Amino acid sequence: MKNIAVFTSGGDAPGMNAAVRAVVRTGIYHKKNVFGIYYGYEGMIDGKVEKLNKKDVANIIHRGGTILKTSRSDRFRTPEGRAMAYKVLQKHKIEGIVAIGGDGTFTGASVFSEEYNIPFIGIPGTIDNDIYGTDYTIGFDTAINTAIEAIDKIRDTADSHNRLFFIEVMGRHAGDIALHTSIGSGASFTFLPETDTTVEDLIKYLENAKKRQKLFNLVIVAEGNKSGNAMKIRKKLKKINEKYDSRVMIIGHIQRGGSPSTHDRVLASRFGFAAVNALIEGKSNIAVGLINGQIVDTSFNDAVTKTKGIDLEMIKMAEIISL
Ligand code: F6P
Repeated sequence: MKNIAVFTSGGDAPGMNAAVRAVVRTGIYHKKNVFGIYYGYEGMIDGKVEKLNKKDVANIIHRGGTILKTSRSDRFRTPEGRAMAYKVLQKHKIEGIVAIGGDGTFTGASVFSEEYNIPFIGIPGTIDNDIYGTDYTIGFDTAINTAIEAIDKIRDTADSHNRLFFIEVMGRHAGDIALHTSIGSGASFTFLPETDTTVEDLIKYLENAKKRQKLFNLVIVAEGNKSGNAMKIRKKLKKINEKYDSRVMIIGHIQRGGSPSTHDRVLASRFGFAAVNALIEGKSNIAVGLINGQIVDTSFNDAVTKTKGIDLEMIKMAEIISL
């Protein structure tokens, strides 16, 4: 294997640049030519490929976003799109690829690799922390710290006005961001995609809180929970009883940006290093991950079909310590 490539795909996550840097430098250390594919699978189809040297990845470890850009590609879901991508890889004689992204990225890599027999190694990069086979994904730690910083500020004004605040955080299908920000911010109550919490449950909590002279409440809402987004929950609550006045804050995409935390930089560097070593060892169709502090491999098949799930003990603990 002489030529390898790296790309980022799907939603960006702080720390992706640190992973790209580690891939490029580890690859060059092993005397490989390392190519960057820009704009994920879209760029693979359109031939946006450039050789990277050590200097191209200098001064990026602290930067959020991804220097390789990213996209979500519908064309890559089609056999025609994948055939075009294969031609591009052939043109550059690319024999192994490191794909940085979430489960959509790994699914694409798995299908393509089986069709064209090119080894792929995945690096879990998504703020959602929802990939099976790793305790942490790149970007999660930064995202929850960004959320916490904002929520600490909301806490001040909520306290001053004795107000109820709904704070919506990201996580369309997964509640790890919401659960961690809820515990870390000392919030009162949490709506997660993984649980069946209702507005009636919230009312019970609020009524008990009132009896305890708890005068302001922060409620964390994962965007993909079953009772609806923060605006919807606020509306439902008001409809049940006019007395529940509240405010909504949607933290939104700032959770995806910003300088990565040290945890994310180190994690991303370890993943990038491990991914190139895996390619060199002849591994294929696996994602690297971190379990109990150790780098492990998980097949793409398991990574995309198995659900990581949420820590039920932690949900219980969050409930108990917010009472
Ligand atoms: O990257 C994951 C994620 O942040 C989800 O939590 C969120 O629902 C989604 O991406 C939003 O992505 P976009 O706005 O890029 O479509």
